[in-house]
Amino acid sequence: MENKPETKEIIVLTGDRPTGKLHLGHFVGSIQNRLKLQNEAKKSFYMVADMQALTDNAENPEKIRINTLEVALDNLACGLDPAKTTMFIQSQIPEIAELALLFMNLVTLARLKRNPTVKSEMQQKGFGEDVPAGFLVYPVSQAADILFAKANLIPVGEDQKPMIEQTNEIVDSFNRIYGDTFKRVSHLVGETPRLVGTDGNSKMSKSLNNGIYLSDSDETIEKKVMEMYTDPNHIHVTDPGKVEGNVVFMYLDIFDTNKEEVADLKEQYKKGGLGDVILKKRLAKVLSEIITPIREKREKLAENPKMVMDILEEGTKKAREEAIQTLNEVRRAMKIDFF
Ligand code: TRP
Repeated sequence: MENKPETKEIIVLTGDRPTGKLHLGHFVGSIQNRLKLQNEAKKSFYMVADMQALTDNAENPEKIRINTLEVALDNLACGLDPAKTTMFIQSQIPEIAELALLFMNLVTLARLKRNPTVKSEMQQKGFGEDVPAGFLVYPVSQAADILFAKANLIPVGEDQKPMIEQTNEIVDSFNRIYGDTFKRVSHLVGETPRLVGTDGNSKMSKSLNNGIYLSDSDETIEKKVMEMYTDPNHIHVTDPGKVEGNVVFMYLDIFDTNKEEVADLKEQYKKGGLGDVILKKRLAKVLSEIITPIREKREKLAENPKMVMDILEEGTKKAREEAIQTLNEVRRAMKIDFF
């Protein structure tokens, strides 16, 4: 992270695309930091990025609508506190869209095509030149998400670093042309910036179907852990096993708080004599202990969706006031403040 702002000056903003429920990758990559920072920051914002989700889901509006509630539930269940964090819905603040449109003049097509995260997402989705224009420019719209609130600290997963870089380029261009208006922003990645998927793929992701969700039942967690990739040459319990690249050990390193026992297990495993099932049972238990209280709180909250929508509506009103102020300032700086 570059230059974390002074504690009393921290304005945090983060968000999720509502394309599905959130998983452990979100939890360790970003949510844990959100929870910590909401207690330290001068202001804290959380956005459901439904407009961004629509950039590659234009034909699935229902999916995005349903998941708007789901991601809000996930965050509330983890402990995001609406008294500390202003939670809002992106699409309900038109000023963000206007700001994005103004920022687009400051970014070239070549630069958009170079964003590594967008590039790999385009590849994964097989877009090629047929990429929706809105998708290609979503990093610009993300800059507007961040800058309308004058946020300066963005807790995100590692894949979001390129968005912060692009935001800072926009800050620099804007200030140079229209006068000092925005400050550069920093990102903060979690202790585990990128969690491997249950299949050993480098990233846990919904589209790769390799995730453990914050809403998963104990049975589902156990089933997913039992299917995890270990060491293909560790066939008999007595065979010596490999710890490096073994997904179960990677997860134990991250989630099991008893580091000494994990170190002992690694020794045993390397020597031979420790079966995968024992190891997996342990991991399933560790993960259940983390997820169960979240899932239970989530189930309670889900009984009252109206209350969750009220939280979002309230937060949206509050965030919008900031957006209107920032946009007035931007219009003045850009000499389009006519009436
Ligand atoms: N791009 C982020 C993701 O896919 C979501 C997001 C949208 C976001 N706007 C943001 C994150 C602003 C941080 C700040 O997870």
